[in-house]
Amino acid sequence: MVAIDLSGKVALVTGVGDNESFAWFIAKALKAAGATIVLACHPRMVSIVESLLTRPQDADSRRLPDGSELTVAKIFPCDVSYDTMADVPEAVRTDRRYAKFPEYSIQGTVDAVGQQFGGIDILIHSVAFSREITKLAKDTSRAAYYEALGISAYSLTSLLRSAEKYMENRPGGASAVALTYLGGERVVPYYGGGMSAAKAALQIDARQLAHNLGAKNIRVNLISAGPYASRAARSIRPGEFEKSIQYAAARSPLPRPIKPEEVANATLFLCSPLASAVTGHILYVDCGYHAMAV
Ligand SMILES: NC(=O)c1ccc[n+]([C@@H]2O[C@H](COP(=O)([O-])OP(=O)(O)OC[C@H]3O[C@@H](n4cnc5c(N)ncnc54)[C@H](O)[C@@H]3O)[C@@H](O)[C@H]2O)c1
Repeated sequence: MVAIDLSGKVALVTGVGDNESFAWFIAKALKAAGATIVLACHPRMVSIVESLLTRPQDADSRRLPDGSELTVAKIFPCDVSYDTMADVPEAVRTDRRYAKFPEYSIQGTVDAVGQQFGGIDILIHSVAFSREITKLAKDTSRAAYYEALGISAYSLTSLLRSAEKYMENRPGGASAVALTYLGGERVVPYYGGGMSAAKAALQIDARQLAHNLGAKNIRVNLISAGPYASRAARSIRPGEFEKSIQYAAARSPLPRPIKPEEVANATLFLCSPLASAVTGHILYVDCGYHAMAV
């Protein structure tokens, strides 16, 4: 029997906003394989995630295949808009949802994780944002476009620059996985607001980073997930997003929607020794939809 054993590995997982986030399922899969899970959540989501991890009524969503529950070693607040605290504007610094945290920059968060946990073996980037996601590309403002690129794409570069010294030359190597979407390669009409550009940037960035970090045995890969009705995705176009899922499902070689657990399992593979020679790769977890022309 071939088993995936990540015991002793430290996984820093960004992008858990609730218990429907891809990152939630990824954290569960990594935990089920034995990894120590450290979350870096948007400062506004920290208390929500804390309660999802402890409330009795959410026990089912925490359940792992062996009957135990998802537990995390620590939750750090992290807004990936900021590389260091010096980047944080005054209005954000004094916002009551941020003011309670002394540190929430990428560098501060990664340093804290690397030092407190003695290194980082796995980094999950599952973060995306555009304030104008509902706008067509032609109507997207410059400010929203740059913000989408910064949060959804550049943050991977920044996270890995900060994490390099904690991920280099780990036993068996280290692995970073980021989430992308076919809308970064082909036209998905509703994927505006700078998000399609952000995913396109993320895809070439991941390959650049795979090259830049390969000599230190840090692998960088992407999962291109099919459409999935996370709470955030549903709220973008209420009632409409489900139609996109049905559209893709009807045209996919595997004629059904994806499940978040399938994205998590593919991520687990990329983080495991089974993928030790896989880097700079985009793994489509979309029931094969990307292969279709009609
Ligand atoms: N849902 C889909 O159909 C789909 C398909 C393909 C790829 N993806 C990608 O998967 C990833 C996760 O999306 P999801 O569907 O799980 O939705 P989600 O809303 O649950 O996850 C996105 C996360 O990004 C976080 N975030 C946004 N701005 C941030 C910031 N400035 N700092 C820190 N965190 C921030 C949010 O708090 C949230 O937890 C994203 O990269 C998304 O583009 C989603």
